[in-house]
Amino acid sequence: MIDLLALEKSLISPHIKAGGTVVDFTMGNGHDTLWLSRAVGEEGHVFAFDIQAQALESTRSLLDENGAKNCTLILDSHSNVCQYVKEPICAGLFNLGFLPGGDKSITTLVKTTLPAIRYGIELLCDDGGLLIAVYPGHEEGTREGEQIEQMLAEYDRRKICCSKFKIVNSPSSPFFFLVEKK
Ligand SMILES: C[S@@+](CC[C@H](N)C(=O)[O-])C[C@H]1O[C@@H](n2cnc3c(N)ncnc32)[C@H](O)[C@@H]1O
Repeated sequence: MIDLLALEKSLISPHIKAGGTVVDFTMGNGHDTLWLSRAVGEEGHVFAFDIQAQALESTRSLLDENGAKNCTLILDSHSNVCQYVKEPICAGLFNLGFLPGGDKSITTLVKTTLPAIRYGIELLCDDGGLLIAVYPGHEEGTREGEQIEQMLAEYDRRKICCSKFKIVNSPSSPFFFLVEKK
């Protein structure tokens, strides 16, 4: 059976460059932040966003335990990414939805997710990529999936290639959008 976590990482990995700058748009408990930190190496840098102080605390502990020093943790919405990230990025990761084991009422929302993705695309360097994991098992997640797809379908494919990866006979399973700048 397909391993969705492995698929997610395999899709974005080719865009992550050692020494590059990347963004974790949904920090959560920091597992993706740590993975990105290792992938860009000591010379690279990770900017990570979350709106919950609890997420920053657990991510900070995880990074400290693992000696990861190349991350900037930001307590703000990912839709404000351009206020903090002023350089081109080679990759960005969105794991939408709510914090596993946390408050399910605090979830990513269409009104902030869409601008964050648009800004993320503007920040991409040539050959950069964004990976967006959507969780359609809840109402806002279904809405996010539909509206992200509509938005991405409007980009000129000669400049930005937008793909979707989905298990067709499992409608509530997570699925992915990959956005690649040529
Ligand atoms: C599915 S979790 C992310 C899991 C995380 N990547 C990990 O490795 O543990 C989604 C996270 O997005 C955060 N979030 C919700 N709205 C946000 C926003 N506007 N900006 C940044 N983060 C947001 C939630 O607080 C939650 O921690």
